[in-house]
Amino acid sequence: MEELRIAVLASGRGSNFQAVQDEIESGKIRARIVLLVSDKKNAPAIERAKLRGIETMYLNPAEFPDREAYDAAIASALRKRQVGLVLLAGFMRVVTAGLIRPFRNKIMNIHPALLPAFPGLHGQRDAVKYGVKISGCTVHFVDEGVDTGPIIIQAAVPAYDNDTEDTLSARILKCEHKIYPKAVKLFAEGRIEVDGRKVVIKKQKKREDDALISVA
Ligand code: GAR
Repeated sequence: MEELRIAVLASGRGSNFQAVQDEIESGKIRARIVLLVSDKKNAPAIERAKLRGIETMYLNPAEFPDREAYDAAIASALRKRQVGLVLLAGFMRVVTAGLIRPFRNKIMNIHPALLPAFPGLHGQRDAVKYGVKISGCTVHFVDEGVDTGPIIIQAAVPAYDNDTEDTLSARILKCEHKIYPKAVKLFAEGRIEVDGRKVVIKKQKKREDDALISVA
């Protein structure tokens, strides 16, 4: 199987990008991040990517007539680099059909809440305000809605009475760094199947050499 080529779209800190890149560098995920795109000129994610020798691209939304044109520019950059998986990692823009259509079920997003609860820009703040006792994070495929696509993996964390947006966010972030690389690994291994709204994770195929050992 050819090595999976990944692009990351990030607006900020880039810790999720880094978590995925770390697993790739340690050999746990067979893939390569070939491009990091940001809509923010000074996003720390860009610096992180440069340090790791990953190509970066800053696309200024103000230079495009509308969101569709902006997303079309991203799609074209991704096509040129033969990207097979797109990761939204703290990308604080709603992506449009121009990007979603050509990459159907090939764009993942990490969201800091247990979807379908608390979609949108402030998942953790909304969960604290609501007073939930359990929150968490979700990796899902991106469709035309806001945080509505098929769910790949979720992880739960407790929410405490004295939590603030910051304390809950920190607890959730630790889980994000575990489940995002996990979802990417499953994708790279060809183990994700989408059946309507449902994502089915296929069992790991026995490696050929394992099979040889078991018949020896
Ligand atoms: C993460 O908590 C991610 O879940 C959230 O932004 C943060 C980015 O952190 N994304 C959203 O809220 C999307 N609606 P990072 O830049 O360190 O990966």
